Amino acid sequence: MQLGAPLDFGYPWWLSYGHLALALPTLALLALGLFRRWSKWALVPLGAIAVWAATVALLFHFGLGIDTPPPLPTEAFFRAGKGRVLDLGAGTGRSSIMVLRARPQATLVASDLFGDSFDHHFGPGEKPQDRLRRNLVAAGVDQRAEIATADMTKLPFETASFDAIVSAYAVDHLGRQGIKDALREAHRVVKPGGDFLLILVANDGWSKLAFGPLLTHGGTRGRQWWTGGLQDAGFQVVEDGTAPGTQFLLARAIQYP
Ligand SMILES: C[S@@+](CC[C@H](N)C(=O)[O-])C[C@H]1O[C@@H](n2cnc3c(N)ncnc32)[C@H](O)[C@@H]1O
Repeated sequence: MQLGAPLDFGYPWWLSYGHLALALPTLALLALGLFRRWSKWALVPLGAIAVWAATVALLFHFGLGIDTPPPLPTEAFFRAGKGRVLDLGAGTGRSSIMVLRARPQATLVASDLFGDSFDHHFGPGEKPQDRLRRNLVAAGVDQRAEIATADMTKLPFETASFDAIVSAYAVDHLGRQGIKDALREAHRVVKPGGDFLLILVANDGWSKLAFGPLLTHGGTRGRQWWTGGLQDAGFQVVEDGTAPGTQFLLARAIQYP
């Protein structure tokens, strides 16, 4: 096991460092302007851009922690901790590692379509499965994980074959019908009573501050919309919450009569 190798989730540089790249030169220009006593017509906009870009850069690194596996948003998820978990849209492994670290007795299937959406997020090039596997190894959780190529709207898994499901920032990439299909498929493959932790981009003040009108995730739909979708698919929402830029819903699969 290559413990100690760095985790590299591979989100594009502009998402990880774009705001910082703008904050640093603007702060430098602002300092120069203050030193040389530039007019307020130059200093005020420079100051506003610098403060905005620096705030969002801090949010990305300390609030969203986009380049590190986050903690579980709720300890209530899969409290039993022993069994088989499915990650829908695992990408380069951030959400899979989050669960495997928090639940050391669990095994997990990290599933993804590994298609255009993967390349869009993480860039083309190396085989996507290799990038995911390398992070699982670097996190020391690869012995408990397997990788599966799967479309979450049409899962190639047997009914009731997982004890819990997680999905982070992935279901909200699908269109209305895709979301409906994915939630129904999640309900089909999880055992009755099993947990589904759905993590989404939130259209909160932080996201608006960072992206303004450029925010396009389906996560911009609110808590009520997602609660309704989960209920229609056969889940009962037992908890929901927020973190900067994020909303999550913890749902439990109800058995159909
Ligand atoms: C923003 S990434 C999230 C990755 C990871 N869960 C995380 O938290 O960093 C969204 C992922 O969803 C995957 N995805 C999009 N549509 C999918 C589909 N229909 N079935 C399976 N995965 C899909 C993409 O390939 C991509 O890896």
